Amino acid sequence: MGSLLVDDIGELVTNVAGTGDGGPLGLRRDAAVLIEDGRVAWVGPARYAPAADRRIDAQGGAVLPGFVDSHAHLVFAGDRAAEFAARMAGEPYTGGGIRTTVGATRAASDGQLRATVRRLVGEAMRQGTTTIETKSGYGLTVADEARSLRIAAEVTGETTFLGAHVVPAEYAGRPDDYVGLVCGPMLAAAAPYARWVDVFCERGAFDADHARAILTVGQAAGLGVRLHANQLGPGPGVQLGVELGAASVDHCTHLSDADVDALAGSTTVATLLPGAEFSTRSPYPDARRLLDAGVTVALATDCNPGSSYTSSMPFCVALAVREMRMTPAEAVWAATAGGARALRRDDVGVLRPGARADLVVLDAPSHLHLAYRPGVPLISQVLHNGVPQCRS
Ligand code: NIG
Ligand code: FE
Repeated sequence: MGSLLVDDIGELVTNVAGTGDGGPLGLRRDAAVLIEDGRVAWVGPARYAPAADRRIDAQGGAVLPGFVDSHAHLVFAGDRAAEFAARMAGEPYTGGGIRTTVGATRAASDGQLRATVRRLVGEAMRQGTTTIETKSGYGLTVADEARSLRIAAEVTGETTFLGAHVVPAEYAGRPDDYVGLVCGPMLAAAAPYARWVDVFCERGAFDADHARAILTVGQAAGLGVRLHANQLGPGPGVQLGVELGAASVDHCTHLSDADVDALAGSTTVATLLPGAEFSTRSPYPDARRLLDAGVTVALATDCNPGSSYTSSMPFCVALAVREMRMTPAEAVWAATAGGARALRRDDVGVLRPGARADLVVLDAPSHLHLAYRPGVPLISQVLHNGVPQCRS
């Protein structure tokens, strides 16, 4: 494979706190990055760059770690554009449309599901995402959840069993029976393909007792815990997640002071998903309140056909800055290092020797431009495992 030098980097975001400019992004000017065997081998001033077999000229642009999208639902069929249009005409979002996607997903072939997952992963990659998590949750039978995860596992190691997305129609009025299925045969079939277990803990989906039961057996089966919590209203999800040592609690739109305190005293990341508030026309979560309390915040897309059909991390960064009172630096950190924390990974979201060589080159001089120039295709080059991807 040989060595590869990325040089003429106007601004390098390393996320190595205290280096470079001394801030959390570890910003370096006039830097270069040497890549060997898919890993970062050296980071330093361009004038001291070692010789390499090949070279990529960043042309004075900013370079940052590839985005780590720690929350997406890519295994589905059909779309819900009409539901989106109805919302924009005043209908509220309830999560009820999940069952529409479940019907379409069950009816789809493996090939159709695989094509959708690959299309969305490619779309995300062209926008700078080099690590992506994806969940099941639109199958909701033993066989359909297992196949969703099997297909997801073809494209990412970050796979999450979300059999507890909603109670499917055939179990209407029998949630205990459905939770029994999820905890028993469904988990057994899903676990070989999953790294994580997740529950949609929300009024209208699963309550705290059901969520605790599912997450606890998932943990016992060796899966890490994450959950959808406090999206549509206040609830027990965030504190349950902290109690169970979840890597992340996701959405966090409606938080009490006790929820914020619990997060602040924990290692659980608060993952904010502004694409969902955008697409459901809902109030955004208050990132400033979480950051000021010392909570670790991540940003992710929540890419799904119902509440957030975007695969764009730059769009989420721009929303977080404009609508959630995050600084551009905080938002970029949350979309890279924050996502890595939410997945309990230390090999991505950071550019230091030994890290995976996942890099984004911007057609702009600074990370600030991701929010300053919203909607503009600034990603000029993506390297994944040190391999240049097709230009967008
Ligand atoms: O994260 N909140 C639950 N699940 C998804 C929405 C799924 C859907 O509407 O299809 C979410 O927003
Ligand atoms: Fe989600």
